[in-house]
Amino acid sequence: MCEIIFSRIFLGFPLLLWIAGGPTHAACPIELNPLTLVVRYGDSVSVNCSTTSIDYEGMGWEATLGGTALKEVNYVIWNVENLTDWTIQPVCYLTQKDGEQCLKKFPVILYKTPGSVSVSPQSHSGPMVEGTEYQLQCDIQNVAPLRSLVVKWYKGNETVKTETFHNSTRIPVDVFSTLNITPRRFEDEVKYRCEAELDLGPKGPLASVLSSQTLHFAVYFPPQNILELRDTEVDVGSPTGLNCSSDGNPRPEYSWTYHRAPNVKLRNNDGGSLLTIEQTTGENIGNYTCHASNTLGKVFKIARVSVRGAEPVCPIKLIPESVVVKYGSPISVSCRNTTSVEEIYWTTGPEVVNDTTWSVLELLDWDIRPGCKATFQGIGRCSKPLHITVYKTPDSVSISVLNHSGPMVEGTQYQLQCDIQNIAPLQNLVVKWYKGNEPLDNVTYSTVSKTPVDVSDTLMVSSSRDDDGAQYRCRAELDL
Ligand SMILES: *[C@@H]1O[C@H](CO)[C@@H](O)[C@H](O)[C@H]1NC(C)=O
Ligand SMILES: *[C@@H]1O[C@H](CO)[C@@H](O)[C@H](O)[C@H]1NC(C)=O
Ligand SMILES: *[C@@H]1O[C@H](CO)[C@@H](O)[C@H](O)[C@H]1NC(C)=O
Ligand SMILES: *[C@@H]1O[C@H](CO)[C@@H](O)[C@H](O)[C@H]1NC(C)=O
Ligand SMILES: *[C@@H]1O[C@H](CO)[C@@H](O)[C@H](O)[C@H]1NC(C)=O
Ligand SMILES: *[C@@H]1O[C@H](CO)[C@@H](O)[C@H](O)[C@H]1NC(C)=O
Ligand SMILES: *[C@@H]1O[C@H](CO)[C@@H](O)[C@H](O)[C@H]1NC(C)=O
Ligand SMILES: *[C@@H]1O[C@H](CO)[C@@H](O)[C@H](O)[C@H]1NC(C)=O
Ligand SMILES: *[C@@H]1O[C@H](CO)[C@@H](O)[C@H](O)[C@H]1NC(C)=O
Ligand SMILES: *[C@@H]1O[C@H](CO)[C@@H](O)[C@H](O)[C@H]1NC(C)=O
Repeated sequence: MCEIIFSRIFLGFPLLLWIAGGPTHAACPIELNPLTLVVRYGDSVSVNCSTTSIDYEGMGWEATLGGTALKEVNYVIWNVENLTDWTIQPVCYLTQKDGEQCLKKFPVILYKTPGSVSVSPQSHSGPMVEGTEYQLQCDIQNVAPLRSLVVKWYKGNETVKTETFHNSTRIPVDVFSTLNITPRRFEDEVKYRCEAELDLGPKGPLASVLSSQTLHFAVYFPPQNILELRDTEVDVGSPTGLNCSSDGNPRPEYSWTYHRAPNVKLRNNDGGSLLTIEQTTGENIGNYTCHASNTLGKVFKIARVSVRGAEPVCPIKLIPESVVVKYGSPISVSCRNTTSVEEIYWTTGPEVVNDTTWSVLELLDWDIRPGCKATFQGIGRCSKPLHITVYKTPDSVSISVLNHSGPMVEGTQYQLQCDIQNIAPLQNLVVKWYKGNEPLDNVTYSTVSKTPVDVSDTLMVSSSRDDDGAQYRCRAELDL
């Protein structure tokens, strides 16, 4: 086996410069013992180069450390106490009597176990968020040779990645390996580490493994479910509580709202998950929403509180509670909170009257629907409508006999008609018929009409002789 070698000139060996290529020899009669070595940087080496040839003139070692002169011997030892040349390439050469030279390179591998191995998250610190990709980096310092390095990544006790390097550099280098991870919830306190191992083959020392520290981090995730929260039913006057709990990291914070006031946070015990009601009343009936949130998200759930023996109430008192007002007349109603209130005001349909008293000088709206609205701490928003009746007395009430004029004929039926003009509201009207002072009939109307209407009612009468001079009357009454 011959090869082209370019070697340097060493003291005392001006002859050995070029070994020109081409198979000029069948084989170089040199034996090396051992054949190869794996040496820790700084350790000692000793290699016996001997020849089986009897025609030798001399032999020697050429090396940056421990080189020898050409000696007239049949073996020569390459000996170095402290091998500190990373790129050393010792060569044993033989000069034969015919002047021919041949050589053998001695393969030596210098190694150095890593100075340090450490793992860290790249461009990140603190807890990680579930579902997000992160990169961990394993830094290995001062290791040689790089191509013998094997980096193993561990998640817990399981190997998740193995990396090798193909760089043929022989000098110690700093290298790193990266691992992409996407943490999931409940992998809280996941442990990652990396290991650097020099795999120097069968001639090498027992695998020397250096492990990094263990990296653990919390995994953050938003709350997803609300557990525990259930509808409750309680007897009026008894205490009750709603318990809300959720997962999530960091631990969620809780707040409560009531359906009447979705924007008002209810008192609960120090931001905790428990909402307590000391003494339930009708004011507590309704739907309560528990909100659980952390920096990553929020979730909510509704529970219903039913109070046996109570009706839902709105703690508003109207003074007066109901009004009957003549169209065009003044009106004034006030509104009082019967418990601590945050906001209280009047509305008349779409219009907001930002006052606790609603006053009008001339009421000119037949279909007005005033109400008082309020937002209470712990109860939320509710309203109380004002029961209002706007009335108008008729412009005229008249009676007539239908299809007849002049005197009546005994035994004949006649139809009397009562015309009432421009009256409201119709459902409160009672038309009363009298013959003299004797009540004949009372008529009421089931049709609801808030605005004024004209009404006609008829009554059949049959005249008799005794009725001469009788007086029929009709009367319109508003029963308010
Ligand atoms: C070197 O090898 C030769 C041939 O095998 C042997 O005779 C000699 O004793 C060896 N020298 C040493 C110092 O081991
Ligand atoms: C080997 O050589 C290095 C560099 O010259 C030196 O630092 C070290 O002390 C030496 N070791 C021995 C055992 O002589
Ligand atoms: C990893 O550790 C777990 C518990 O500590 C154990 O059950 C499992 O067998 C281990 N797996 C391996 C590959 O060692
Ligand atoms: C091998 O590593 C050395 C030192 O890190 C670097 O200078 C060289 O470019 C690398 N060679 C290859 C082929 O990657
Ligand atoms: C609320 O639910 C949590 C989770 O189940 C439980 O630990 C806690 O004791 C409950 N609190 C009450 C007052 O029921
Ligand atoms: C309360 O919740 C129940 C069921 O979720 C629903 O049927 C009801 O309409 C809600 N009541 C109020 C006042 O929001
Ligand atoms: C009405 O609400 C106010 C403001 O919250 C409060 O000061 C007052 O005591 C309440 N009135 C009653 C009767 O509770
Ligand atoms: C009523 O007026 C008060 C003070 O001017 C204001 O803070 C409040 O928002 C008003 N409310 C409504 C419903 O307009
Ligand atoms: C009353 O007379 C009018 C015409 O004058 C007629 O249309 C109507 O049907 C009559 N009604 C009765 C009850 O006779
Ligand atoms: C009509 O109502 C009056 C009281 O308003 C009552 O005295 C009278 O008996 C009633 N008449 C009839 C016929 O129902």
